[in-house]
Amino acid sequence: MFKLIKDAFPPPKETTREKDKYQLVKRHDRLGRMADTLEYSSVALPLARLNDALVRELEKEAPSMIEYEDEKLVIRHVYIERRMVPLNLFLQNGSDEDIEHGIKEYGDAIKQLIQANIFPGDMLYKNFGVTRHGRVVFYDYDEIEYLTDCNVRRVPPPRNEEDELSGEPWYTVGPYDIFPETYGTFLLGDPRVREAFMRHHADFFDPALWQRHKEQLLRGELADFFPYDRDVRFCVRYPARFGNPGQPDAQASARAA
Ligand SMILES: Nc1ncnc2c1ncn2[C@@H]1O[C@H](COP(=O)(O)OP(=O)(O)O)[C@@H](O)[C@H]1O
Ligand SMILES: [Mg+2]
Repeated sequence: MFKLIKDAFPPPKETTREKDKYQLVKRHDRLGRMADTLEYSSVALPLARLNDALVRELEKEAPSMIEYEDEKLVIRHVYIERRMVPLNLFLQNGSDEDIEHGIKEYGDAIKQLIQANIFPGDMLYKNFGVTRHGRVVFYDYDEIEYLTDCNVRRVPPPRNEEDELSGEPWYTVGPYDIFPETYGTFLLGDPRVREAFMRHHADFFDPALWQRHKEQLLRGELADFFPYDRDVRFCVRYPARFGNPGQPDAQASARAA
């Protein structure tokens, strides 16, 4: 997957900010839950191999990023990342088991990210991918913030009937305010998805979960993350050599709880 940063964004996005976010992810523990990117400059591709519509799109959206040389298109700056199946498509086309798996993974991914101080920002399913190994990974970094910079808020009760019926929020929202109770509106539209979500991750919509992780981080506590199954850990496979299998995991889950 090749990713270019567009020349212009509709406000409030800014390109300079977006580059910083890629740098942030590059330096941060990605926990096996954020795709790593390889940053390239001056990537020359034979024009004959590129679809016309793609070239026109690049000229329209990112003219400052491309130039031509002989029969080649040269991309000045591009991030390259592994290709996955976007989670929205995976869920749309999936069997009940796929949905169950995808949603459990999605919730686990975000819970781990926030414990590692990454608030993903744009949590729509299309911003997550499913790897060949069935792992759900986040890949849209534009709106990432540190969880410790965010204000976790509950939705204030409506003051009157007008508030209650309003399609817009009736409360003021600061740039770093987050409202976990509202996430259901874009995550639970599909009944099959909703059922799996509520079974595995009903606590996702409770601001207390987010606040607890934020406070843990502020106290300097960091959970352990294993980007692979517990069953393949050495302490499970070779208990005699690597100690009591129950021990390290029990500690980790005590910290995570
Ligand atoms: N690594 C990837 N593998 C497969 N599809 C991807 C990948 N990264 C992005 N996409 C697809 O491209 C779309 C836009 O990418 P994204 O990184 O979210 O950029 P944007 O900032 O434009 O939303 C995604 O919604 C998804 O459909
Ligand atoms: Mg996106």
